[in-house]
Amino acid sequence: MCGIVGYVGPRSSMDVLVAGLARLEYRGYDSAGVAVVSENDGLVSQKRAGKLAVLRDDVDAHPLASGGTGIAHTRWATHGAPTDANAHPHLADGGKLALIHNGIIENFHELREELIASGEQFLSETDSEVAAILLAHAFRETGDLTTAMQQVVKRLEGAFTLLVVHADKPGVVVGARRNSPLVIGVGEGENFLGSDVAAFVAFTHKALSLGQDQIVTLTESAIDVITFDGEEVHPPEFTVDWDASAADKGGWSSFMAKEISEEPEAVANTIRGRLSSEGQVVIPELEALDVGRIDRVIFIACGTAAYAAMLGAYAMEKWSGIPVTVELSHEFRYREPVVGPGTLVVSVSQSGETMDTLMAVRFANDAGAQTLAICNTQGATIPRESTATVYTHAGPEVAVASTKAFLSQAVAVYLLGLYLGQHRKVVSAEVAASIAKDLHALPEQIQEMVETGPRIKELAGWMADTRSVLYLGRHVGYPVALEGALKLKELAYIHAEGFAAGELKHGPIALIEPGQIVFVIVPSPRDPSSLHSKVVSNIQEIRARGARVIAIAEKGDAAVLPYADEVITIPPASPFMEPLLAVVPLHIFGMELAGAKGLDIDQPRNLAKSVTVE
Ligand code: AGP
Repeated sequence: MCGIVGYVGPRSSMDVLVAGLARLEYRGYDSAGVAVVSENDGLVSQKRAGKLAVLRDDVDAHPLASGGTGIAHTRWATHGAPTDANAHPHLADGGKLALIHNGIIENFHELREELIASGEQFLSETDSEVAAILLAHAFRETGDLTTAMQQVVKRLEGAFTLLVVHADKPGVVVGARRNSPLVIGVGEGENFLGSDVAAFVAFTHKALSLGQDQIVTLTESAIDVITFDGEEVHPPEFTVDWDASAADKGGWSSFMAKEISEEPEAVANTIRGRLSSEGQVVIPELEALDVGRIDRVIFIACGTAAYAAMLGAYAMEKWSGIPVTVELSHEFRYREPVVGPGTLVVSVSQSGETMDTLMAVRFANDAGAQTLAICNTQGATIPRESTATVYTHAGPEVAVASTKAFLSQAVAVYLLGLYLGQHRKVVSAEVAASIAKDLHALPEQIQEMVETGPRIKELAGWMADTRSVLYLGRHVGYPVALEGALKLKELAYIHAEGFAAGELKHGPIALIEPGQIVFVIVPSPRDPSSLHSKVVSNIQEIRARGARVIAIAEKGDAAVLPYADEVITIPPASPFMEPLLAVVPLHIFGMELAGAKGLDIDQPRNLAKSVTVE
């Protein structure tokens, strides 16, 4: 999950590298480092444990050379604690070679033992330093960085994006990738590399995506790509559809606050151009699917993306008439599922790089299933390896805790469900028009929920010292309960658990004691099913045992008032839309409680934005 930047061109590479790292820091922030190569000064490097600010202060105080060739790295530690020695770049060949790495080299131990036996000494505990030393050996043999990279990558197993520079090769950066992201920024007389487009979007919107098992040799005037076996490749080009300012805080106190404020616009962007007022879904990307053969849909995702899929799945099954299940990616792949051409495996991933989900997509592809990616990051690996892709167009999500992506992902699933229903001719014109009306009304209703922020902040203020919060939801409220609990865990480091409300009496009610805070997502009282009355009964059961209940309920729902300590109201909407309104105050609550506790809202401890290791 590390951030990687490479540059070759006329600028001072330090400026490009540090600016790029600042935009990638959300990918990992245990340590950071840079290496610069110039004709006059050879290779100079600096790396420091801690956040990017530590390195930036260091290089401000002790400027490095101003060479036009450089690589930079911000780390999420896997092998070895976050220390200066374990930070990247790793040097070799007497300090003339520098390497940065994202991923895990799974056979590093045997390679390390082999190198130690040959007399090499290691300065770090990392798997990455093994690659640096192997590259130094290969470069000394071949005198060419690209050939050296070709030799070395054939010995490595696992996941890796590697960038390397050498003092004897100013003006050249060589990169390689297997199971880990790397995109190329195409400039005018300069070129860039990054673990995602945020690394260089301030300098160019033109990009190429490097494929699996490929090596790129970058100079300021050329971009040469080959496979690990040396065959020439011409990577697909794409244009980044957002600008650098979108990846800035823009005056907000945190990226998360900015991204919650963007939730209405994110949903509007997901829908834009894809849904007529009559309810006709138009998504050309889906024409790559053989819809006629689909007799089962399986969603695969992790974390918040999985909860978005769970939420969307209710509507999809109802509208399409196709059985739909949702599985955690890391469970799906290892249970040896029976899938085939009739199965549509839909991955949901904001980053498009989550290794658990990527490996599950590969499993599905190998098993002959059709695969569809719902993704927010253009040029990411999962879309490139799927039969078709629907981008959510939510704009960059920088805060590690996902917010606007959740709503965009669920709405994208709604659109897919309606699309399948229309193709199978099981959705009537009036139902489609009604769904379209509900979906087009969402942004404004979500905005209304964003405006509950001050009230939620007040609530969070009097809960700052709480040690446990429970979330109850039923049917489409259940994924919202899970999402609310995850936000509190990852932002405020508080034990939080989401339950299906019907499960309460089967054990979890034992957790209820006087003062226990419980959020309850209440179904609409207008819903003809009996779910509303059942959930109100759940509220009575926990209140009778001393719980402090915060109900999220539809405006005008009088049944809840006598039993809740606090009620956060949502505007009346259709049953499938109300969860997308109820989740907004839970996103805000997680953020405000973290703020009340003085925690880092955008970069919570131990986490990274994109988990690119299994
Ligand atoms: C969400 O707040 C978490 N940061 C995490 O659960 C995330 O949703 C999960 O890792 C999946 O990421 P993806 O959407 O990029 O695949």
